[in-house]
Amino acid sequence: DVAEKGGYPDFMLKEISEQPRVVRDTLVGRMRGGELDIDELGLSYEELDIIDRVYVIACGTSFHAGLIVKNMIEGWARIPCEVEAASEFRYRDPIITPSTLVVAVSQSGETADTLAAIRDARIRGAKVFGITNVIGSPVAREADGVIYTKANKEIAVASTKSFIGQVVSLTLLALMLGQVKGKLTCGQVRMLFHELGDTAEQIQWIMDTQGAAIREAALACKDAQSALFVGRGVGSAICYEGALKLKEVSYLHAEAYAAGEMKHGPIALIEPGFPVIAVTTRSPVYDKTVSNLKECEARGAEIIAVATEGDEEIRAIADHVIYIPRVRDCFSPITATVPLQLLAREVALLRDCNVDQPRNLAKSVTVE
Ligand code: G6P
Repeated sequence: DVAEKGGYPDFMLKEISEQPRVVRDTLVGRMRGGELDIDELGLSYEELDIIDRVYVIACGTSFHAGLIVKNMIEGWARIPCEVEAASEFRYRDPIITPSTLVVAVSQSGETADTLAAIRDARIRGAKVFGITNVIGSPVAREADGVIYTKANKEIAVASTKSFIGQVVSLTLLALMLGQVKGKLTCGQVRMLFHELGDTAEQIQWIMDTQGAAIREAALACKDAQSALFVGRGVGSAICYEGALKLKEVSYLHAEAYAAGEMKHGPIALIEPGFPVIAVTTRSPVYDKTVSNLKECEARGAEIIAVATEGDEEIRAIADHVIYIPRVRDCFSPITATVPLQLLAREVALLRDCNVDQPRNLAKSVTVE
């Protein structure tokens, strides 16, 4: 066990620490001669070119990876994209035609609801694409094409490095669709690909420099009954994953909300000392999120902000600031999720929880 943990106190920290490698390995060999190349794609350019609707279906953390890619697929390829929990998708009557692409995201490649959903989608005539970490898994076998996340075996029940691999893989798929649809030039694809690769070093920077800030923020959450995660745009998707991680490993109730929706309910929860964890990275909606935070501050919330390096302004509102390097907004989930994973782990340790094997949870859910 000690040897397997490679010197880390737990698998969760070991796996979080592997994330820069996961980014690099998932991207290696994907750019050949200046062109994006996904050799196991399994779908021809012609088949991709007719795609006019995308559903991303998944469960748990994989579902959150899906939420993150929606804007990239819609923005880069201009194809409508919906992201749904597989357990919901399989029991409704979605609009599927032969030009529909269903993307199944599954670390294990064997989650019962995800498999049932893709089987049903195939019968209805959709093209099915898999994003999985397990070579030869049912999702890999049953999909028309696949991208492997190259996270290697993940042991901690709460997924961390697989999530990063999934977001990177989904980004590759979005780039590919953008390229095939002629909405992105080769130059744009190359530039975005290189920026995507830069996130490996950026994650390492967070791991190397933000530990003390994250521990301090964890102390502020330790005795709370509940916590609220807020953000806008991709920031809200990051919040869903941050809140899930905190719930999974520390048993602290956490809820994620789009910041603009706070005044329609969650703000009623805020009382002095209530932890609000905000993703306030530099983005076109930064000012909007900051103004939501001011409303929390006025009610005495304990504010923990994940902000862009160099943002001193945020210190006037937040009690604790965790910095991430400046990054293009669409890639911020790859970096901003990392401090939230580390925060969840620190809170869990302070609450004497087993971060690798939380109660009641299974690594893969192969029965409904
Ligand atoms: C379980 C695991 C989660 C995982 C989810 C989906 O709930 O505990 O970590 O995100 O299943 O699993 P999959 O293998 O399909 O990604």
